[in-house]
Amino acid sequence: MNQLVESNRKSWDKVAHYFNGVDALPSYGPFSQTEDELKLLDDLQNKKVLDIGYGSGHSLKYMAEEKGATELWGVDLSSEQKLTAEKTLQGLEPRLFCAPMEKDINLPKDYFDCVYSIYALGWTTDLRTTLTLIHSYLKKGGSFLFSWDHPLYPYIKSEKGVMTLEGTYQEEGLQTFEKFKGEDAPMTIHTRKLGTYINELIQAGFTIENVVESEVGERYKEEDAPISDRYYSLYKAHRFPSTVIIKARK
Ligand SMILES: C[S@@+](CC[C@H](N)C(=O)[O-])C[C@H]1O[C@@H](n2cnc3c(N)ncnc32)[C@H](O)[C@@H]1O
Repeated sequence: MNQLVESNRKSWDKVAHYFNGVDALPSYGPFSQTEDELKLLDDLQNKKVLDIGYGSGHSLKYMAEEKGATELWGVDLSSEQKLTAEKTLQGLEPRLFCAPMEKDINLPKDYFDCVYSIYALGWTTDLRTTLTLIHSYLKKGGSFLFSWDHPLYPYIKSEKGVMTLEGTYQEEGLQTFEKFKGEDAPMTIHTRKLGTYINELIQAGFTIENVVESEVGERYKEEDAPISDRYYSLYKAHRFPSTVIIKARK
């Protein structure tokens, strides 16, 4: 494991408890439309699915209970998340691995009907290798779906409700935050442009079927959206897509 991934792993173990049931299907992301609204998933009845960054396991649970998937596989970096996911998925016989998504851990090739990742893919330190691996796990005709912060979103800052661009979207590369969720849990993340995600999918051999720049989900439409300068807010989501969702096929 490279040093960067190892340091992120330690931090994820510290903050894992903040992510129990957060960022999980049917939600695609903060204030965004859900799977019930977007209907992006294929028919997964009796199918095999693989979750990249399964977190607390709630997306895999949704895949089993709502979509009828019968084989539930997952990869996540954090051993704390694995313990939580095992509890969430009790009785469903999941196959959960604790490993970086950018590493080949001999998962079966040409095997899965659907590989997906809800708010985890952007954590990879090596997008090219990760997408090549994901492509190899899929059967021909299988789908890959992921959601992540809209790549421009982190640069849109709100100050008393006035949105400005902070930093530079043009510069892709590693960024380290010393604190995460207020904890002493340094995290390093690779910023990427939207075009990079799209081009790397094409490079890995995928055909892109859908790119969704999120809108405010139905469940928030009637809610007041007072001015807010928080990183995620309904106020901001009404003006700018918080999430990007991409569906691609092998
Ligand atoms: C926001 S959570 C995802 C939530 C999850 N999708 C769910 O359904 O509950 C992000 C997850 O990505 C995992 N992660 C971060 N970097 C990773 C990496 N390089 N390889 C695999 N998993 C990683 C973290 O351990 C964390 O569980």
